[in-house]
Amino acid sequence: MRPWSYHNIISRSNIPEDQVIFITDCFSKDIFSCISYVSWSDKNCETAEEKIVKNTKMRYPLPERIGDPDLLVGREKEFRLLGQWLDLIPKRLGKSRAILGRRKSGKTAIVQRIFNRVWSENRNVVPFYFSIREKKIWYPEFAIEYYRAFASQYISFLERDERLVRNPLSLDKIREYGISESPDILAEDVNMLLWNRERELHDSMWEIAYTAPERFAGVYDQRILVIIDEFQNITQYIYRDKACKEKPDETLAGSFHDVVESKIALTFLISGTGK
Ligand SMILES: Nc1ncnc2c1ncn2[C@@H]1O[C@H](COP(=O)(O)OP(=O)(O)OP(=O)(O)O)[C@@H](O)[C@H]1O
Ligand SMILES: [Mg+2]
Repeated sequence: MRPWSYHNIISRSNIPEDQVIFITDCFSKDIFSCISYVSWSDKNCETAEEKIVKNTKMRYPLPERIGDPDLLVGREKEFRLLGQWLDLIPKRLGKSRAILGRRKSGKTAIVQRIFNRVWSENRNVVPFYFSIREKKIWYPEFAIEYYRAFASQYISFLERDERLVRNPLSLDKIREYGISESPDILAEDVNMLLWNRERELHDSMWEIAYTAPERFAGVYDQRILVIIDEFQNITQYIYRDKACKEKPDETLAGSFHDVVESKIALTFLISGTGK
């Protein structure tokens, strides 16, 4: 039996219910016992992915909220199953997923480690982690923040430069990199973001930002794993008015309606249930 009903914010993003993982509170408990209907095979044998993980020298470009990485305990089965899912991404067989769970049940700890693992493995999957803050923000600024984080993490992966995950580049630096180092799509995107900003075309700015992973994956024949943490905040903290005084835009979860269908840029939405 499922512990909670299908979360309405996740449902607006178009991730089907059978691709949602429900998480329970205890790190050591088998969180997957309540999701037997999720179509992952739980093999006992080691997957190719696990072998690579074992042989990977872990790096931690994304500072994990848990602090010292050794403090993360348990969750072996979860990481094994998520490893099998990650294994499918290069083969274009993976589907977007969501994790739902109560406050403080350990969702962020799991996905931040997934980011660091995928980054460290340095294969053909580029990870992008973005956490939607509990802080009011004006819509075009949100679009720029999202794009800067994506572009900086993308460059950090190409250059193997951990600092760019912690300190996102400015739009100017992203454009400069795009011009000098070839992903010219970066320079075009920055130009379009600024062009739209001048004309107050804020929907177009957000569209450039949220479609970037799929566009990059297509142009450069890569796979991208988009991890959006604290997804429930997307309907509560983004404002259409600059002063953030009116009502937050409650429709933005719907932006992911189409992108979650992608087989080359997979989305992993993480949301608290508020219970
Ligand atoms: N596997 C784990 N081992 C040890 N400590 C953990 C583990 N998972 C989470 N924690 C600790 O539990 C607390 C809550 O974890 P985390 O922030 O990941 O939960 P969350 O579900 O993302 O919470 P929220 O609903 O607020 O987003 C943190 O202090 C974290 O360090
Ligand atoms: Mg969290």
